[in-house]
Formats: sequence, structure tokens, C-alpha cells
Amino acid sequence: MTRHPHTHDDHTHHPHGGHAHGDASHAVDWAVFGTLLEKNAELSTPALEQTAEWLRGLLAVPVRRALDVGSGPGGATCLFARAFPDAEVVAVDGTPELLERAHARAERLGVADRVRTHLAELPDGLADVGEADLIWSSKAVHHLGDQQGALDGLAAALRPGGVLAVSEGGLPLRALPRDIGIGRPGLLARIDAVQEEGFTEMRAELPGTKEIVEDWPAMLGAAGLTGARSRTFLVDHPAPLDAPAREMLHIELARLHERLADRLDATDRATLGRLIDPDDEAGVLRRPDVFWLSAFTVHAAVKPR
Ligand SMILES: C[S@@+](CC[C@H](N)C(=O)[O-])C[C@H]1O[C@@H](n2cnc3c(N)ncnc32)[C@H](O)[C@@H]1O
Repeated sequence: MTRHPHTHDDHTHHPHGGHAHGDASHAVDWAVFGTLLEKNAELSTPALEQTAEWLRGLLAVPVRRALDVGSGPGGATCLFARAFPDAEVVAVDGTPELLERAHARAERLGVADRVRTHLAELPDGLADVGEADLIWSSKAVHHLGDQQGALDGLAAALRPGGVLAVSEGGLPLRALPRDIGIGRPGLLARIDAVQEEGFTEMRAELPGTKEIVEDWPAMLGAAGLTGARSRTFLVDHPAPLDAPAREMLHIELARLHERLADRLDATDRATLGRLIDPDDEAGVLRRPDVFWLSAFTVHAAVKPR
């Protein structure tokens, strides 16, 4: 099965723990998300380090080879390369531009000797990724029509005693007080609601899409893995935000403003427009009260020996 990048929305990356999705009628161009995905991984570094430590405790074998499936620009790939210094870590993705970024990032961070990239269209491309002791996949399985089939394929690539960890779901971004002094209070909650609808439409349009109760631990069990458990990691940058986090928030809100325009009412559109205006005192580049608070959930299970 091949991916149909032009049949679903381009909000399907999600820089925070919840779904970040939009108008399903727009095309995906993953390449343009490189900056956003990479900055998001940087904001999530402490949380990803905690994740790596948690996974280390679940593993029954040393990690010699790890896969980051749907790696994007390799934020987690490089972090896992540092966390597991004896491992070769392979970034697997269907977007060549993002794998180039992953490679460049590995060079910058001094882990290029152990980081590989592997271009593959999922799920069929899983067939030749090879075996691994640790497989990480963040916000990628939900882009595949048959999510259980994808987990089955990932579980098949695990060595006995190895761990499959999928990051799916969590909490949506909160970045502003409820009442921000402009527009109608509760803007981000209304944005969540329209993104959720966009996500459902995106999934409905995927090739070979199958409905399933998204009970991730149960799905890991159905893939033949044991001891499934879930843990949620907080990405918490309180006000006052530093410049990189503020810039990330600006990029994210600008993306939402563009992509959700026809799904929000005129008041919310105008509010979002002011929030991304660099010259507006009420905008996120200038106001003092912005923060970045999100969370991602990781579901992990072990391949029986
Ligand atoms: C939401 S991004 C997640 C990136 C990264 N794992 C993270 O958590 O930031 C989804 C990634 O999956 C990749 N992807 C989506 N569908 C794919 C497919 N069918 N085959 C291969 N890669 C795919 C995209 O290129 C993109 O890099």
C-alpha cells in the first residue's frame, strides 16, 4: 500500500500531545513541517529523555538496534542515539526531505556514526527495515489506514525481549490564559474541537482505512506483545516563554490560522489573526502571559522471549 500524501490534511503532524489536525481537503506536504517538527522535538527534549529512561526500565535486552518509525526530522532518533550509546538508531520515514534533516541533525549532534536513515512507505516498507530491540513510533501510526496491521508489522520486527513504544494521544496544547482580553474566552478549546473533526476526516480518507477502538494497550496485546502499559509525559514551559518556545508557538498558531480559517467563526479568526500579528501588543510574540503546556502519552509493550 502506498501513502497518498495529497488526500489528507497537512495538520496531521502534531507538535503537542493532542491531535493537531485541520481541514481534510488540503494536501499533506510533510516536507514543510520539518522546522515545526524539529522545534517541537527540541521543546520536548526533557520529556523525551524521561521517556527513554522509562523505556530502558521496560527492556529485557540491551538495545543494539533501534528504529524510529515515522521519524520526521529525527528529533527523537538523535535523542535515542544519545540515550542508548551502544545502539544503531534508524530513522524510518516516507519523506526524503525530513530524512535529510534527520541526517543533518545527527551530524550536528555528533551521533551520525550511529544514526542511519531509511526511506520507506509504510506499512509495506516495514518489510525491509530489519529487526530491532526498541521500536519507537510517535504520531505516525495514526496516519496509516490499518492501525492494528501497522502495530502487527512493528511487533514482527521486534527481537524477543524488545519493546515497541507508540506515542499516540495525550493532551492538546494550552498556551494562553482562558480569557486573553481579546475575542471570546476559550479559543484554544474551540480550536481543539475543530481539529478533532479534521482528524476524523483525515482518517476516513486514508487508503485502506479501518475503524478500530483506539485502545492502544489492547492493540499492542493483539499484536502479540505483553505487559502493555501507558505513561504520559509533560511538556511544560511556563511563562515567561523563552524566544525559541515563543517562536514555536507563533509558528503553530500561524499554521492554525491558515488551515482552520474556514472552520472557525469570524471572531475566533480575528482573534487568532491578532495573536500572530508581530506588531500587535496582544500577539504571542509580545504578550507576557503565553506559555507552552502539553503532554504526550506513550504506550509500550514487550515482545515475549
Ligand atoms: C506527525 S509526523 C511525526 C514525526 C515525529 N515522529 C514526531 O513525533 O514529531 C508523521 C511522520 O510520519 C511520516 N509518514 C506519514 N505517513 C507515512 C507513510 N505512509 N509512510 C512513511 N512515513 C509516513 C511523515 O513523513 C512524518 O514525518
